[in-house]
Amino acid sequence: MADAVKSATLKIDGTTLELPIRSGTIGPDVVDITKLYASAKVFTYDPAFSSTASCESKITYIDGDEGILLYRGYPIEQLAEQGDFIETCYLLYYGELPTPSQRRVFEHAITHHTMVHEQLTRFFQGFRRDAHPMAVMVAVIGAMSAFYHDSLDINDARQREIASHRMIAKLPTIAAMAFKYSIGQPFVYPKNDLSYAANFLRMCFAVPCEDYVVNPVLARAMDKIFILHADHEQNASTSTVRLAGSSGANPFACIAAGIACLWGPAHGGANEAALEMLAAIGDPGKVPDFIAKVKDKTSHHRLMGFGHRVYKNYDPRAKIMQKTAHEVLVELGINDDPLFDVARELERAALSDSYFIERKLYPNVDFYSGIILRALGFPTSMFTVLFALARTVGWISQWKEMIEDPNYKIGRPRQLYTGPARRDYLPLSKRGK
Ligand code: ACO
Repeated sequence: MADAVKSATLKIDGTTLELPIRSGTIGPDVVDITKLYASAKVFTYDPAFSSTASCESKITYIDGDEGILLYRGYPIEQLAEQGDFIETCYLLYYGELPTPSQRRVFEHAITHHTMVHEQLTRFFQGFRRDAHPMAVMVAVIGAMSAFYHDSLDINDARQREIASHRMIAKLPTIAAMAFKYSIGQPFVYPKNDLSYAANFLRMCFAVPCEDYVVNPVLARAMDKIFILHADHEQNASTSTVRLAGSSGANPFACIAAGIACLWGPAHGGANEAALEMLAAIGDPGKVPDFIAKVKDKTSHHRLMGFGHRVYKNYDPRAKIMQKTAHEVLVELGINDDPLFDVARELERAALSDSYFIERKLYPNVDFYSGIILRALGFPTSMFTVLFALARTVGWISQWKEMIEDPNYKIGRPRQLYTGPARRDYLPLSKRGK
């Protein structure tokens, strides 16, 4: 962050404070209030962090008004169309796109860490088969810290790197195992000559009694979904990972915390909710009734897959998702997908309705991703798992950036206390009936 050249003036109870204003490379300036409490004995109040930069970061930039998403400066559209997930992982984690030899070394490391400790495969047997796969993911990823003791020292750069490679490599294997376990099929071991996305599809959909050939169009669609979900700066789950990591917790525990946060329907659970909503609408002709219900605040219905805390123009990922959904449906010969038809009509109707226009509500990444994942053969309960798989590289890159910052310390928000002031304890016999 550049040294402050501007400042903001704050007057409190007759005292005037000069607060430094700092600038990033692009994006809004920030008012640096780190010394505010020490000098004025007041806190700032911003419970949902709507106006608060919680950290300095060089990884991902979003301009919500312009609909721009950059990973390390590269537009998401270029990475999704011209790159692949492996180099996106390298870019997010190391800061630059890999050279051919860096890519070879990195891909080899990721590919050769895809198997999990055999004992970890037994861990699954403790779960009910009908457990939500996200519940299984939170537990199994957290349990990785009980298996990989040689990469838990967060102060050792090489151990941090090994733990990170392990998570990027093993998340697909564990996610596929969670899926296989839920449908009662045997686990399929990774295959090292396949790409990251193709290997994942094979681990999910192959069975031992049949050959399985990965469809390259579907593998490419999967890869794009991974790229689009790989990072999104300081969202709720990433902030969770950073806050958990700020205490010095090991990286496996931090990523498990991030997965737990992602599970919520306002965050990663939205694509599951969006698809359920499309299925409940069922027919493009019923869209007007649904829109009316969403606009009626007493109904407590939201248009799932619409709206975003940051994007107030268009989520650039949604455009790529819509195109990919079309490509996947064509490849699979699904000419008439009622849910895709409902989605397109819903998008058209909402984007021409003043309720959504005034509130700047547009489709987000989750609006179309459910349609693609369903066409690929995933049940809705797996959708957030796939999101977690893709986001792991973002979480781990943000965690690494935080740990490597010489000024990092434990995160500790303050509060505006509105509970009872000090009062004295009353014995039970004096508290009425
Ligand atoms: N449907 C209908 N109305 C909505 C929607 C929606 N999806 N989203 C926001 N609004 C309305 C709110 O009711 C509110 O209206 P009001 O001003 O009349 O009270 C206004 O728009 C602002 O909404 P907030 O909730 O204040 O906006 P916020 O930025 O906090 O919420 C969020 C963002 C949580 C994503 C919200 O838009 C939402 O719930 N969307 C549906 C869930 C979803 O798709 N989540 C995925 C997000 S992307 C991701 O996590 C990958």
